[in-house]
Amino acid sequence: METTSSRHRAFSAAIVFIQLSSFWICTLVDSSPLPPTTTSLVTSSVGGQAVLPCSWKSLPEVATAPSLCHIQWATLADLVFERLGQKMWQAPEFKGRATVPEEKLGSGNCSLIISDVQIGDTGSYESFVVMDTTQNKGVRVFIQSVKLLVSDHKSIKSHHPGEDLVLELHTSHSYRVVFLSRNSSMWSEVWRREDKNDGRLEKHPVHEQVTIKNVQSSDEGIYKVIDEHGLAVSTVQLFIKEGTASPKTQDRLDYVPTDCAPKIGCSGLFLLSALISSVHILHHYLLLLL
Ligand SMILES: *[C@@H]1O[C@H](CO)[C@@H](O)[C@H](O)[C@H]1NC(C)=O
Ligand SMILES: *[C@@H]1O[C@H](CO)[C@@H](O)[C@H](O)[C@H]1NC(C)=O
Repeated sequence: METTSSRHRAFSAAIVFIQLSSFWICTLVDSSPLPPTTTSLVTSSVGGQAVLPCSWKSLPEVATAPSLCHIQWATLADLVFERLGQKMWQAPEFKGRATVPEEKLGSGNCSLIISDVQIGDTGSYESFVVMDTTQNKGVRVFIQSVKLLVSDHKSIKSHHPGEDLVLELHTSHSYRVVFLSRNSSMWSEVWRREDKNDGRLEKHPVHEQVTIKNVQSSDEGIYKVIDEHGLAVSTVQLFIKEGTASPKTQDRLDYVPTDCAPKIGCSGLFLLSALISSVHILHHYLLLLL
């Protein structure tokens, strides 16, 4: 508790110092005020892309000497990304997934692009300008705070016995698929990434998909795709329809008798109303004649 508050005090002092120094640079260079600091919310679903907004064009540090500062993105706990010209650094958990394009940075856009977004990426992110001048080396100036909310996928599927169930894995970080049968209370593992395809379960050679072939009523239940950290990427509820799957033409033939009755009813009703109208017309005609 003691260390936290003293650390916090030191941090606040540092912030005051940074604000003062940026104010000083600010008054020297540009009279425009610092942009308001706002927290924006970005939402994405697993496997998608998230753009965490950031603009550093109006920051005096950047305006005066863009080559003497660099961009840094961090969560509250760890560094995520840094870019200094062509050199960039990504945290291991964001390897190959996080970037601030260099050409965008040059035009003042320091937005962080996270691709193949993971559930575990949910959290608060902050962007900073880090000074590289000898007298201010390592001084960080806060730019923006962004909250990222990553949601999982949910779907309901319904198949005839004998059909194939295609489960989307959504990301290469999906690691296994577990199943809860309709009449069971225990989850069982049906697939693991290192598994070889057997006759029944097949991982697509390119796409992030697992196919369970020839589903039967015993396959009815809930499937969950789980990532490396044990977090649910996707939940699929499978229903098995009654009866066997029938070819399309058979389907249409089956359809006719059930749809027939109301159609006949309708045309019968139409005939009756037509008859009534003609009686009416005849009645009018007779009245005119009289
Ligand atoms: C900044 O760049 C990102 C992509 O890197 C883009 O989605 C966003 O619209 C840009 N923002 C502005 C204000 O141009
Ligand atoms: C669960 O029910 C299905 C039919 O819906 C049946 O085929 C299967 O054997 C049952 N499994 C267990 C473990 O009772």
